[in-house]
Amino acid sequence: MALKITEVGPRDGLQNEKSEVPTRDKFEFIQKLIRAGLIHIEATSFVRKENIPQLGDAKELSSLLDLNGKTQFSALTPNLKGYQAALEAGYKEVAVFTAASESFVKKNINRTIQESIDGFKEIFQEAKKDGLKVRGYVSTVIDCPYEGKIDPKKVLEVSKILLDQGAYEISLGETIGTAVPSEVETLLNVLLKEIPADKLAGHFHDTYGMAISNVQKSYEMGIRSFDSSSGGLGGCPYAKGASGNLATEDLVYYFHKSGIETGIDLSKLLEASSFMESILQRKLASRSYIALRAKAAS
Ligand code: HMG
Ligand code: MG
Repeated sequence: MALKITEVGPRDGLQNEKSEVPTRDKFEFIQKLIRAGLIHIEATSFVRKENIPQLGDAKELSSLLDLNGKTQFSALTPNLKGYQAALEAGYKEVAVFTAASESFVKKNINRTIQESIDGFKEIFQEAKKDGLKVRGYVSTVIDCPYEGKIDPKKVLEVSKILLDQGAYEISLGETIGTAVPSEVETLLNVLLKEIPADKLAGHFHDTYGMAISNVQKSYEMGIRSFDSSSGGLGGCPYAKGASGNLATEDLVYYFHKSGIETGIDLSKLLEASSFMESILQRKLASRSYIALRAKAAS
């Protein structure tokens, strides 16, 4: 199975930013990501503006994107209302999201796990009819900010339900970035007994600097799909202290140096991150981004 990288910077990366990013700048950021070679881009989410004001321009941003082109864009949709908005905007792929922890799902989407899954049924039905692909996120796969350690069996149960409903892939959200490789191994040992590796993706946050080690462990165990965000942007408003996603620069540097091609041009990716850095007026966290920029400037 070929390696797949899903760039989540425009969505996961920007949803937690303090300063408001103008829609035109988000569009320019996405154009730069495309020029860097990113094919899978999660552009935004169709959720309540009151909850995630930073992505309140989902409709306007989406109208600027070429949703019929080569880039495979997706949008996060928590319920049928969100799905319908994404469909209307022209998306060919959406992502539903729940978690393996009740408290997290409650805070995040104001539902129990079961209610969230029941609500997704309609999305899966409509998506089948409309010919849209649906990705499923399961958050808090190792630790939950409210409940602590999560039982891998719960992650397996929720993931299997989403796959049975029609998700083509489950993105395993390590939401607060606390996991270490041995915990990822324990989780994957449980999941891979019942779910093929090509149905799973790693979505690691990098709060404790463990994300790339967790990618390495996942890759060794057969996972070939990973989410990351340009420059390491990101965080989750419902997971205090969670810093950014694994940086796309760190992921690409790691793969290229390991002899694994990604199709991504690192120097062009730096341009995307540096553009966002100037818009946000704060330093981005990615180690590879910082080092590669310094090298390019010397
Ligand atoms: P709710 O309040 O329970 O919704 O919100 P409701 O059904 O009771 O409706 C209340 C009002 O919201 C109504 O409007 C609805 O129309 C409206 P009113 O009649 O009062 O004027 N509404 C909506 N508006 C816009 N878009 C919608 C929508 N649905 C209802 N889709 C809801 C439920 C899920 C919408 C809310 O809790 C919400 O927006 N939550 C935000 C969730 C979110 O975006 N979280 C961050 C992303 S998840 C994440 O980052 C984790 C991930 O990265 C993986 C990982 O790292 O683990 C994916
Ligand atoms: Mg996330």
